[in-house]
Amino acid sequence: MSMSAFGRRSNRCQTFRDSFRCRRHDIVVPLVGLAPKPCYPEHLRVEVERCLQELRFSSEAATVGLQEAMRYSLLASAKRIRPVLALATAEAIGREPASVLPLAAALELIHTYSLIHDDLPAMDDDELRRGRPTCHRAFGEDVAILAGDGLYAEAFRLLLGEQRGEPADVLAAAGELAAATGVGGMVGGQYLDVAGTAPSGAQGLRRLHELKTGRLIAASVECVLLLAGYGRRDTIDPFHIFASELGVLFQIVDDILDVTGSQPALGKRQGSDERLGKRTYVTEFGLDGARDLARESHARARDALARAVPTGAVQLQQITDFIATRTH
Ligand code: IPE
Ligand code: IPE
Ligand code: MG
Ligand code: MG
Ligand code: MG
Repeated sequence: MSMSAFGRRSNRCQTFRDSFRCRRHDIVVPLVGLAPKPCYPEHLRVEVERCLQELRFSSEAATVGLQEAMRYSLLASAKRIRPVLALATAEAIGREPASVLPLAAALELIHTYSLIHDDLPAMDDDELRRGRPTCHRAFGEDVAILAGDGLYAEAFRLLLGEQRGEPADVLAAAGELAAATGVGGMVGGQYLDVAGTAPSGAQGLRRLHELKTGRLIAASVECVLLLAGYGRRDTIDPFHIFASELGVLFQIVDDILDVTGSQPALGKRQGSDERLGKRTYVTEFGLDGARDLARESHARARDALARAVPTGAVQLQQITDFIATRTH
């Protein structure tokens, strides 16, 4: 694995200038009534992208094909919300964003693994992801399963081997990442989704979203706090409320976009949930109801963020608004 990106400090002037450069999305926003906020901390996404591009996983010819499948899915066009959140959180607590790049990359590797497995014929059976044929379509199911497994293991190798910090803090972050992706997190949420075992009603649906998507997004914030030694609950709690609300908001909007989005913008098939008879915020509350709940969730997330960082955290605010108004 090449780690040369992790030692590099970001160019502050470039970062500062880029933070005022906003990308405009001239498409209808999913949440009518919420003013579109086209800003996204693009300079952080570029930093993440550069770091991911430099990662190599195979040191022998016999496994180069596996590495190819892993990098095929990892390096396709994506928003990088989880690693960008990690870098923005570092910035919000006065740390150098580049100092958490190994953790940030690990988050994206794990997210990519979850997408590869989510798309498999035995799961959502999708053929398009990140604007490309899904991993199993391009490399076969056997290799796609292994590519997902490989990304998961390499994520922890990266975090435990390359992330600087007090050993106890790195271990705490790794523990949180494992918990967020295990049975009490993403994989448990995926089980609720495929087995239909989420309790009925609004609370049950929220629980499904908290686990399936919310925990990994929340971990993108919380692992940075743990790395910085912020183990005390009174410091973590306001961030925790912000981060877990953000995760739920993200998945409510994903449910809305599955109905209202367009395949070229999403880079994945539109209408997958309906085809599979999935339980979503749209099936439970209708499109307008889901939009109302997303607006409420966005307000709660912004409110919690204001309490977590009373002095303001511009990039985390931008990400929160982007998640609510995104069209892809
Ligand atoms: C899609 O995640 C899968 C969900 C958790 C809903 P993203 O919308 O973050 O997808 P990419 O990473 O930009 O492709
Ligand atoms: C998947 O949720 C969440 C993951 C853990 C990958 P979805 O099945 O709704 O994600 P998309 O819509 O396929 O991206
Ligand atoms: Mg799914
Ligand atoms: Mg899916
Ligand atoms: Mg979806």
